[in-house]
Amino acid sequence: MKAQVLAVEKHLAALARKPRASILSSFTNDAERLQKLSHKLAGIRFDFSRLDLNDESLAGLEALAEAADLAHWREMMLAGEVVNLSEGRAATHMAERGTGPARLVEAAAARGAEMMALAARLEADFAGGEAAKLRHVLHVGIGGSALGPAVLLDALGRMADGPEVMIISNVDGEALAQAMVRFDPARTLLIVVSKSFDTTETMINAASAFAWMKAAGVEDVAARTVAVTAAPERARDWGAGHVLDFSDTVGGRYSLWTAVGLGFVLRAGGADWQALHEGAAMMDRHFLDAPFLSNMPVLAAMGDVWAHRFCGQQVRGVFPYDERLRMLPMYLQQLEMESNGKRVNRDGDYMTLPSAPVTWGGTGTDVQHAVFQLVHQGMVQGPAEFVAVKTPGHGLAAAHHRQLLANCLAQGAALLRGRREAEALALANGDEALAAALVMPGNRASSTILLDRLDPHSLGALLAFYEHRIFSAAVLMGINPFDQWGVQLGKEVAQAVLSGALTETDPSTAALMREALG
Ligand code: F6P
Repeated sequence: MKAQVLAVEKHLAALARKPRASILSSFTNDAERLQKLSHKLAGIRFDFSRLDLNDESLAGLEALAEAADLAHWREMMLAGEVVNLSEGRAATHMAERGTGPARLVEAAAARGAEMMALAARLEADFAGGEAAKLRHVLHVGIGGSALGPAVLLDALGRMADGPEVMIISNVDGEALAQAMVRFDPARTLLIVVSKSFDTTETMINAASAFAWMKAAGVEDVAARTVAVTAAPERARDWGAGHVLDFSDTVGGRYSLWTAVGLGFVLRAGGADWQALHEGAAMMDRHFLDAPFLSNMPVLAAMGDVWAHRFCGQQVRGVFPYDERLRMLPMYLQQLEMESNGKRVNRDGDYMTLPSAPVTWGGTGTDVQHAVFQLVHQGMVQGPAEFVAVKTPGHGLAAAHHRQLLANCLAQGAALLRGRREAEALALANGDEALAAALVMPGNRASSTILLDRLDPHSLGALLAFYEHRIFSAAVLMGINPFDQWGVQLGKEVAQAVLSGALTETDPSTAALMREALG
């Protein structure tokens, strides 16, 4: 298989170097382009037709999917077999939403039922308005133990009538201090989310929050503390009164479907939680069953791998044109860059082709007033992804949302079309220097994901789409997307700095340590 993959990669690299028609002219050359590359699924339009793909490159990428045995790896993940080779683990996030073999699905369902039972008991404490026993939820966690819940709460929790949930991730006391000003320690529920239950930032924040409640006279702080972890004994030893565990075969950045989402359940309720999982399960089925070239996660992964691995585009911009999805770029940064930002493949061989691009982004329309100068005329190129929702969540005048959507669509059109020299020269009244600055190169790729509405089902489907997209890209590149060894060294050096064990270091670090830490 490895020889076959290398041969296909060589073919794709040659294809990438070969002159090809512009994206815009590809619509003229192929009347069926839109039908081939724009699909509607579960109330979501996935339009990849403005990507720099054509029949030839798609055929090559399909051959790569075959050579890389994507179907086999997909089946292995579904079956709960070891797909995380360096840690000897399965990746069972699909089972958390009911997709997979009975032994995995039933175990996940049992843990889910335990969470819902605790949520029901806690909801009684939150009932009663101003006089309620509990009023606030303080979620402490970082990385995958924070970003998933943050996306859910931001996208779906704004109008919900459950308690306010604040997510504190940074060890910088500034974050927790703000929560302590806003929340009443006597009526706060603390949720400590940590798969390992030994992440330094989370443990420092959790200890401070625990002490804050104790100092306020809360008699049984443990009873106000829920730990969500894959290390339940460590959580009990720490002093949590309630412990909800999840399987260590669910990666942190794939864990929002587990009890990690408890804060969202308390805020939005069980019906939304169920709908979120149903949307994800629907996308699972599509990912597992659809042929590669009409499989949304696989097609997106092909576009990603083509752009960064073969066409040398090392950035991928994600631009949600909806305030409710402003957390999406940050969430995807961890999902994509911590999964595929690797330099060796799953067999431990150094890679000779690029692995993952830098995922960046921001919310439209603000990004148009900040970074789109570079996106349109900059020398750093990479596909843009627009994510928008047809129906707004607010009740303001229709002009707001129509303007938002018009700008979203216009950006993709402008990136594709550009502005020709003749047009620029006319605009510049013959001033050639100015005209040069007005030319837009165009032929810049973008994809557009348009949701009919932003509700738990569509968000669940969208987030599962991204999980399967990054997994598929990993398989196309031979990467293990489920480990993250690259984060260890920084943590080790930080501990050495603090313990004084860092005696041998570069002069800059040594001088800065003296200045900053005394
Ligand atoms: O960044 C490294 C990492 O292990 C992430 O993969 C994880 O989501 C985060 O730290 C938090 O880890 P934990 O949930 O174990 O506290």
